[in-house]
Amino acid sequence: MITGAGRGIGRAIALAFAAAGARVVVNARRASDIEAVASEIERETGGEAHPVPGDIASPDDVDRLYREATARLGGIETLVNNAGRFHWGPFLETSADDWHGVFAVNVHGTATVTHKFLPSMLHGQFGRIINVASTTVGRFGAPNFSVYAASEHAIIGLTKCLALETAKAGVTVNALCVGLVDTEQNEQARAKIADHQGTNPDAVKQAFLNSIPMGRLVTVDEVAAGAVFLASREAQAITGICLDVAAGRGV
Ligand SMILES: NC(=O)c1ccc[n+]([C@@H]2O[C@H](COP(=O)([O-])OP(=O)(O)OC[C@H]3O[C@@H](n4cnc5c(N)ncnc54)[C@H](OP(=O)(O)O)[C@@H]3O)[C@@H](O)[C@H]2O)c1
Repeated sequence: MITGAGRGIGRAIALAFAAAGARVVVNARRASDIEAVASEIERETGGEAHPVPGDIASPDDVDRLYREATARLGGIETLVNNAGRFHWGPFLETSADDWHGVFAVNVHGTATVTHKFLPSMLHGQFGRIINVASTTVGRFGAPNFSVYAASEHAIIGLTKCLALETAKAGVTVNALCVGLVDTEQNEQARAKIADHQGTNPDAVKQAFLNSIPMGRLVTVDEVAAGAVFLASREAQAITGICLDVAAGRGV
C-alpha cells in the first residue's frame, strides 16, 4: 500500500514493489494519475495494481482506502507512507493555515493511515511500515523550512516510538529519509525559493548541487530501492532507523 503514488517517489516505489513481485494498491488524490500508474505497472511488470483515490488528510477517505485496499488484496503487509505536502517560507510569513495544512497531511495523515493498517499487521505478526521523510530537514534544520521541517521531524519521532511499540510483534517501522530528489515537488521548491530570492530556479538548483557531497540529485529509483530493501525479509532486524538515500547529505 503506497500513498502519494501518482507521481515522483511514490510512483517509483510502486513500480519497484511490483517488479519485485508484490501486489500493490496505489493512492493519491488525483484518480487519473494513479490509474495511469496502475496501468503502467500492469503493462511493464505484468503485476497487479489497484488505484484507490483519496486524501490522507481526510479520515473518511482513509477509512475508504483501508476498506477498498483490504477488499482487493486481503491483509496489507507493507505500508509506505509517502504522501507529503511541502512548504517553504520565512517563519513570520508562515500562517496558521500553513501549519494546519502541512501537519494535516504529513503528520495526522501519516498517523491516520498507519492507525488503520497496523492492527492487521499485529494480528498477522508481520508488517513493514516505511515512512518517507527528509534527511535535510527531518534530521536537521534549515532556514525558512520551519513548518515542513517540524512535520518531517514529527514523522521520524512517530517512526521511532512505533518501532519500539511493535518490536516484539514482527512489525518493523522505519523512516526512508531522502535528500534532494528530482521530482515535481523539488522543482516547485526551487521555483519558490528562486522567486523569493530574486534569482532563477537554475541558480537554486546549482546551490542545491553544491551542498550535496556527490554533487547530484538522488533519483526516484534509488529511493525506491531503499524502500524495497526495508520491506524485505533480509531487513527484519532493522527497525526504528532513518535510512538516508541522500547522496551523502546528512553525513
Ligand atoms: N523530492 C524531494 O526532494 C523530497 C525531499 C525530502 C522529502 N520528500 C518527501 O518525499 C515524499 C514524496 O515526494 P515527491 O517529491 O515524490 O512529491 P510529489 O512529486 O509532489 O508527489 C507527491 C504525491 O503525493 C500525492 N499527494 C499529495 N498530497 C496528498 C494527500 N493529501 N493525500 C494523498 N496523496 C497526496 C500527490 O498526488 P495528488 O496531488 O494527486 O494527491 C503525488 O502523487 C513526500 O513525503 C516529500 O515530503 C521529497
